[in-house]
Amino acid sequence: MKAREIRPGVSWVGAIDWDRRLFDELIPLPNGTSYNSYLVRGSEKTALIDTADPAKSETLLAQLEAVETLDYLIIQHVEQDHSGSAPLVLDKYPDIQIISSPKAKTMIADHLGIPEARIHAVEDRESLSLGDRTFEFIHAPWVHWPETMLTYLKEEKLLFTCDLFGSHLATDELFSGDGSHVCEAAKRYYAEIMMPFAHLIKGHLEKLSSFDIEMIAPSHGPVHNNPGWILDAYSHWVHDAPKNLALIPFTSMHESTALMVDYLIEALNDRGVHVHSFHMSKTDLGEYAIHLVDAATVIFGTPTVLVGPHPSIVLAAYLTAALRPKLQNAAVIGSYGWAGKAAEKTQQLCEQLKVTWLDPVFAKGAPTQETYAQLNRLADEVASRHKGLESGE
Ligand code: FEO
Repeated sequence: MKAREIRPGVSWVGAIDWDRRLFDELIPLPNGTSYNSYLVRGSEKTALIDTADPAKSETLLAQLEAVETLDYLIIQHVEQDHSGSAPLVLDKYPDIQIISSPKAKTMIADHLGIPEARIHAVEDRESLSLGDRTFEFIHAPWVHWPETMLTYLKEEKLLFTCDLFGSHLATDELFSGDGSHVCEAAKRYYAEIMMPFAHLIKGHLEKLSSFDIEMIAPSHGPVHNNPGWILDAYSHWVHDAPKNLALIPFTSMHESTALMVDYLIEALNDRGVHVHSFHMSKTDLGEYAIHLVDAATVIFGTPTVLVGPHPSIVLAAYLTAALRPKLQNAAVIGSYGWAGKAAEKTQQLCEQLKVTWLDPVFAKGAPTQETYAQLNRLADEVASRHKGLESGE
């Protein structure tokens, strides 16, 4: 794909990765992704913002073929899907100077083997002139690593944000427009990448509210040429109270846990609680993550394997805790053959979740009438705790 102008003198020079299906060997990418770099030409200097994943280095370099001189390479974030082609850019432009945050300076040396002497660290709100164009750098730690910064191009009211406001979406549509074809991918991306840092994103949004922003250019997915919708969406995701939604990530080996989950779904529905269950041996983890953005309650459903929870529920519990959603309540239900501690061990995996743990419900073997009575009591408790929450539909 050729360079594509997004503003006068500002071009997208990215790479679309149509076929990538997994990120970090963990995160499903059902729609592929893109690695967006941007070329900004001033009257005196030219800068490149971010590079591309090493797998797409050739695509980036092909787009830079006609660019004779590059003065600056701005590395907003050191993760290799954006910085990984930097060594090749340095080979092509031996006099180029790297611009980064102070924290990124050592990380660039550590991760990419680039000497710190090649890097100029900029402070928060420091400016850099390209002649008739001026950048202002905005430190924004933890979106998505501690070193990240954003770059504001004053004359174009254009904010470059690297991971923040991105979406894993391979598309030839350069702009997100009203967001209708991007919002779901952006929410999935928020859930998987940004949600653990929601408490810090609140501060970043507050800081950005003093900037006049007409366009947002992230380094994954389409450019936001009408950025109001993505700013509003982030504001809702980080600030809103959880909704009347209970999630049941579960797996079942001999149907006992599945019977309990089916019963609990109906019991919760009967009490006005919206439910989404996820069979963890079959589901896309991203789908589960998206629903965690809004859920008030999670109920893990697990058979007992070697005293503890099934490994797929170990993963679900670990990820739930790591993503730090706005959950308020949690519980564990399931079954065991002769003995076990699946509930306690699942709870231990979620120690960092600030939730109220409701009484677990476990059946020895197949569920009995007493099991179903306990599930009814659990559903009563969840419904009571969800009173007053907005619809989770
Ligand atoms: Fe898209 Fe944190 O890298």
